[in-house]
Amino acid sequence: QKLQMNLDQIEKAGYDHFMLKEIYEQPSAIKDTYRGRMLADQGIIRMAGVDDNLEKFLNAKRIIVVACGTSWHAGLVSEYIFEDLARIPVEVEYASEFRYRNPVIDKDDVVIAISQSGETADTMAAIKLAKENGAFVFGVCNVVGSSISRETHAGAYTHAGPEIGVASTKAFTTQITVLSLMALKLGKAKGSISNSDYHMYLNEMEQIPAKIEKALKSNTHIVEVADVYKNAKNCLYLGRGYNFPVALEGALKLKEISYIHAEGYPAAEMKHGPIALIDEHMPVVVIATKKGHYEKVVSNIQEIKSRKGKIIAIVTEGDTSVKNMADHVIEVPETFEALTPLLTTIPLQLFSYHIAVMLGKNVDQPRNLAKSVTVE
Ligand code: G6P
Repeated sequence: QKLQMNLDQIEKAGYDHFMLKEIYEQPSAIKDTYRGRMLADQGIIRMAGVDDNLEKFLNAKRIIVVACGTSWHAGLVSEYIFEDLARIPVEVEYASEFRYRNPVIDKDDVVIAISQSGETADTMAAIKLAKENGAFVFGVCNVVGSSISRETHAGAYTHAGPEIGVASTKAFTTQITVLSLMALKLGKAKGSISNSDYHMYLNEMEQIPAKIEKALKSNTHIVEVADVYKNAKNCLYLGRGYNFPVALEGALKLKEISYIHAEGYPAAEMKHGPIALIDEHMPVVVIATKKGHYEKVVSNIQEIKSRKGKIIAIVTEGDTSVKNMADHVIEVPETFEALTPLLTTIPLQLFSYHIAVMLGKNVDQPRNLAKSVTVE
């Protein structure tokens, strides 16, 4: 018994839970994702699975992303970045819907399957269907040698290292990292981004691990905010553009481990429904970073305030206008809009983690959930 406890503590490296350890591992996990691939000073992105199949990517009429859960959210972020940088149309599908829908797939489609475990049954079935229809299937998996990594034609591993906590954290940010590298590489190869933008992106991507490190420094403040809202019955998450999928992921994290009902919405859709829910008991987490629709998100914040909703805003370092309106602000360093999800996700992970701990929930193994869903 004693030995067991010690082993457990050693595995958690001094953290109370695997989830917290994995949240804090993100700067180094992303460095591992970059290692050997991103040579920023030489202006090179080397990814064998993409290089060996470059023509397929460049000739792709569209990219179809299939995934489930958090991996599906990473897919949604990739939709923005692939379209933005590489100008390839992207559709993001729940693997479970795609597989049963008689989807239109042809040989000029590139299907990207995203899966941390590489074992998700629905994602596997979607891959098989895509292959039967002649599409080229590329895997983005974390677990080396997993079923999905073997079933796909080519792929890129995330190299996040083992993720034990059921709620996915570092797998998500490393998936976004791999997909961003791909988008940047394809954008360069297609000429859809300029040489100077390409280099600017590479240099900025190199700064991301250090910026995540900085975002993690808000932890003590996030504990205080979590304490205020731990007894909430509902929570709304809003974001726009690149940060709309982050809002979905933030809400998923809260549901998964604290069992508080949470919804993520694109901020502009608030007026088409969720605004009816807002009163003094409704905390609303708003991602309001400086780049990308900032003014519009600020007016959403005003609408929420005038209905007495409570605002927890994720803002860019040094922001002052949102600070005057929001009940709480949590800062993240400034970066390019396309890379903000890698930073804005961090406080949302910590927020749900601390609420779950305060409520005494089993953070690493939430009820009814499995780390890898190998059955339908
Ligand atoms: C389960 C896990 C989630 C995960 C999803 C997809 O629901 O609890 O954390 O996002 O499966 O898993 P995958 O391994 O395919 O990424």
